[in-house]
Parts: sequence; structure tokens; C-alpha cells
Amino acid sequence: MSFTAHVSSQFATYETDRRMKSKDAIYTTSNGVPMPHPYETQRLSEKGPLLLQDFHLIDLLSHFDRERIPERVVHAKGSGAHGLFECTNPIPELCQADIFSTKGKKCPVTVRFSTVGGEAGSHDLARDPRGFAVKFRTEEGNWDLVANNTPVFFLRDPAKFPHFIHTQKRDPTTHLGSGDDSTMFWDYLCNNPESIHQVMILFGDRGIPDGFRFMHGYSGHTLKLVNKNDEWVYCQIHMKSMQGTAFITQEESVKLSPDYSHKDLFEAIEREDFPRWSVEIQTMTPQQGEDAWKQHRINVFDLTHVWPQSMYPRRKVGEFCLNENAVNYFAEIEQAAFNPAHMPPGIEPTPDPVLQSRLFSYPDTHRHRIGPNYQQLPVNAPRTAYWPANFQRDGGMAFFNQGTRSNYLSSIDPIHFKERSHDSRKIHGPFVGDAIAYLSEIRPEDFNGPRALWQKVWDEPARQRFIGNVAGKMAVCREKEFIRRQIAIFREVDPDIAVRLEKATGIQGYDGIAEMRFNGTHNGMTRDPKL
Ligand code: HEM
Repeated sequence: MSFTAHVSSQFATYETDRRMKSKDAIYTTSNGVPMPHPYETQRLSEKGPLLLQDFHLIDLLSHFDRERIPERVVHAKGSGAHGLFECTNPIPELCQADIFSTKGKKCPVTVRFSTVGGEAGSHDLARDPRGFAVKFRTEEGNWDLVANNTPVFFLRDPAKFPHFIHTQKRDPTTHLGSGDDSTMFWDYLCNNPESIHQVMILFGDRGIPDGFRFMHGYSGHTLKLVNKNDEWVYCQIHMKSMQGTAFITQEESVKLSPDYSHKDLFEAIEREDFPRWSVEIQTMTPQQGEDAWKQHRINVFDLTHVWPQSMYPRRKVGEFCLNENAVNYFAEIEQAAFNPAHMPPGIEPTPDPVLQSRLFSYPDTHRHRIGPNYQQLPVNAPRTAYWPANFQRDGGMAFFNQGTRSNYLSSIDPIHFKERSHDSRKIHGPFVGDAIAYLSEIRPEDFNGPRALWQKVWDEPARQRFIGNVAGKMAVCREKEFIRRQIAIFREVDPDIAVRLEKATGIQGYDGIAEMRFNGTHNGMTRDPKL
């Protein structure tokens, strides 16, 4: 596969405006009236007051006053670019989505990378998961894969999300950021031990990737792929960096520019060194999903766990490259609205409660952050062969307001329907057993993934860096009790981690978590793991 510069042409309709240069323009007010000079004002004599009739000045100042839209409540610091996806290994037997139907089928994409907790001006080498959001502009509507660079997440109970995120925001009283005081952060984690898998990854080498080009992306959630015969499989999606992975140490990261990752991506694309990712899937049939729970305690609706690749191997479906920088960052990246609920036919959500909550939360925040007609903006508008046609009308900034078409389901001006190729009653059939009953319970298997990282994946230098990173973050925690509890959680992963942390922090942790009470989360650690 070869990708060249600017092949995507996904903004063709807007190309003239998008690439306009000042030399081709005449200076005007916003209503198009030419003005002799941008600095000119209307004034009553040389020393007198300004005139209210000076529309040019009022137009200028009042628009300036409204330049800011709210930054994203999470993932505010980001970077992005446009590119192209190509299907290399079609999977029509698994999925009816048109982008996976034929070898060589291409689809324009926009990608936005981000850190999670920091504000828009924060350091993009912060130790934090990275967001990895991809908008695939398929022929059957936009598909947004709103992923992270880690295969697991801190929580599996969606109501915990605002609590956890608030621990990384500014203190409500002192207004100090969490960088100098990790007390709230450890308070949350030591009371919610299901976060341990993500905590291990966060403080390991993958906690600070060497820019956005050198990291993988993961759906984290289990999705469903549905074929034309209504048959479906569970699916996890991986986006593997074809540049490989690389990391930066804590010590190095603070010496580098706060825009390091953004600059690296932008400059690589400018010099036509286009970054690429291979898109790969793991699948399970519904029966395998049930067996995974009964036989291996793998709950496909729990995104704190992974699917072992030895049991559920990856297979490649395509690749994408980023070959075009945004020419206007605000219009093409800041106003981009990625939404996990954007799924074309053939891709479906599962009952994973965190995913279900996200399906609501993203379009809700988009209406607040950008406005009710955010889907009409060029970066968000679908590129389908047919015009989007529905009964939504008006609202702020309605531009594509669906012309003369009827604004209700009219028999005078009837609208066409595309027949459903499958029976939706069937595809929402069997869910996986009683998995949901175990959602908030801490169980022995919660520690298997983190233990594998410590014992099998990391070498000794990686373990030492991990201990240094955790001890550094614990050094700015005001409550010793939180450290004692957190060391007990690490002891469940491997006693070696606890011993090393006790030495590094000088704080003796608790022996284990079987007797510990958590903040609302049930402690099932003394139960038989097979129950
Ligand atoms: C951004 C909510 C979990 C990945 C956001 C935004 C919200 C949000 C409100 C801001 C969106 C915007 O302003 O455009 C939530 C909630 C979650 C959750 C309520 C859990 C209950 C997750 C998980 C992942 C994820 C599990 C990854 C697997 C992202 C990414 C972005 C984002 C990549 C940035 C998208 C962009 O670049 O515009 N999230 N999130 N989030 N979230 Fe989540």
C-alpha cells in the first residue's frame, strides 16, 4: 500500500475557502463591506470619544469576545490530522460494514490524539493515558472509534468516571493542580482497586509514549460485528503503530517542550513521513463469550480486563495513514466531535455499561461544547453518497437546514427508507450470562493482568522505572493512609512490588486487601474465584 500527500480530498467542497491566502482577499467587515484599513476607528475629532455607529470596531471586538468555546472537559490537550484507511483483508463473513467489504476499499479519516486529565495548555508528555479517536468517513455514515492507547481502563462502573476525573482537576478550594499534590488521586485509586491494571500501565513505560506516532490504540470496549445474515461476533479492535512503540522517561519528559507530541506529528506529516497504523481485530462468537466467563473468568463487558491474544488471536483488516495536516486547527481538529455512538450498519454496541454511558455522554457534550448543529460543520459532516435527510430543523447556526423538504413524516412529500439488511431483534439476542452481577466486585482475577505485566512482560530495568515513577507520585501525597492502602493493592499483584515500594517511600503498607473496605465497591477477595 502506498499513501501520498493530500490524497484524501475529504474537504473538496470547502477546498477554495480552506486554502485561501490573504493575497487573494480584500479586507471586509463580517457582512462583506470593504474597509480601507483594519486599524481604523470612527472618532469624534482627534481627542473625542468613539462612535457607537462604528460597526467595524464593534464587529471586531464583539467577535473577539466570543472566540473561545469550552475546551473538552477531558482530553482537552490534543493534536490531529487527516488521512486514509484502506481495507487489506475484507471480512464480509463477520461484518457488513462497507469499509470492510472489499480489498482496496478506501475511506477518508480524521484522527485526534490527546492526553486525558490536563487542560488545553498542559504538557502533552504528561504521564496519562492517550486518547486515540478516529473518524472513519464511510459510505454509510461516520464511524467514530473513540479509543485510548491502553487496552484497559481505570473503571467498569460508569458513575465513577466524573469522580475519578475530578481527582485530576484543580482543587476546588486552593485551585492548585494535581501535579504538586497527588492526595485526591491516590484516595480514589486506593478505594477502587479494579483500577490496578490501568495503574500498572500508567506508571510503566507506556505511561509516556514518545509522541503520538509511536503508540498503539485500542477500542478497550467489546463491540459487536454483524454480517448480512444477522450473525454476530464480539470484537476488540487494535490499531498497531507501524512505526513501532517508543517511550520517554519521567526525567526526560519534563525537559521537553509541552507541545512535543503535537510538533512531532505535525512535522512528520509535513516532511511526508506519514505515520501508519494497522487495524486488527480479536473476535469471539457469542458461545465463546459465555465460555470465556465460565471457564476463564473473562468478562467481555469489563474493560478493566483484556482478552489474552494466545486464546483470541488478532487478525488484520486494514491500515490507515495520516498524510494531511489540518490547515485550520480550530475548524478541523478543535471542533471535531468524536462519538462512540456513531456506528454504521455492521458495527454495534455491547451492554458494557461504560460504553453504554459513553453513547449518551459524547453527543450531549458536543451540543454544549460546539452547539446543536455541530454535525453540519465540515469536519463532522458525513460524506455519504446520499444527503443526510431527517426531521431535525433549525437551532443555532443552522446552515444545512434541509431545504424545502417536509419537516414531518409527510404523505405529500414522502421520504425513502433504506431497508434494514438484518433483523435487529435477533442481533440483540443472548447476552453473556450473569456477568453484570459481578460488575463492582473486586475479585482475584482483577489482579491476573497486572501480575502478568510485572512477572512476564517487563524486564528488570522496566520494573525499576515503574517503582521510581510510582514512588515519585506518592511523594506528593499528603495522606500516608492512602499509600498504605495502595501498597496493599500492589501486594495483591506481586509482593515484590509492595516490598520495593515500602523501601522507596519509607511507608509500611497493609498486608493485603481481603479485610479492606472500599468506597462503595464490594470486596469479593475472600470468595472462591470460581463462584
Ligand atoms: C473525550 C466522557 C470513558 C476515550 C471525552 C469527552 C467526554 C468523555 C465528555 C469530551 C468529548 C468532547 O468534548 O468532544 C467519558 C465518559 C466515560 C469515558 C463519561 C466513561 C463513563 C472513556 C473511555 C475511553 C475514552 C473508556 C477509551 C476507551 C476518549 C477520547 C476522548 C474522550 C479518545 C477525546 C476525543 C477527542 O479527541 O475529541 N470523554 N469518557 N473515554 N474520551 Fe471519554
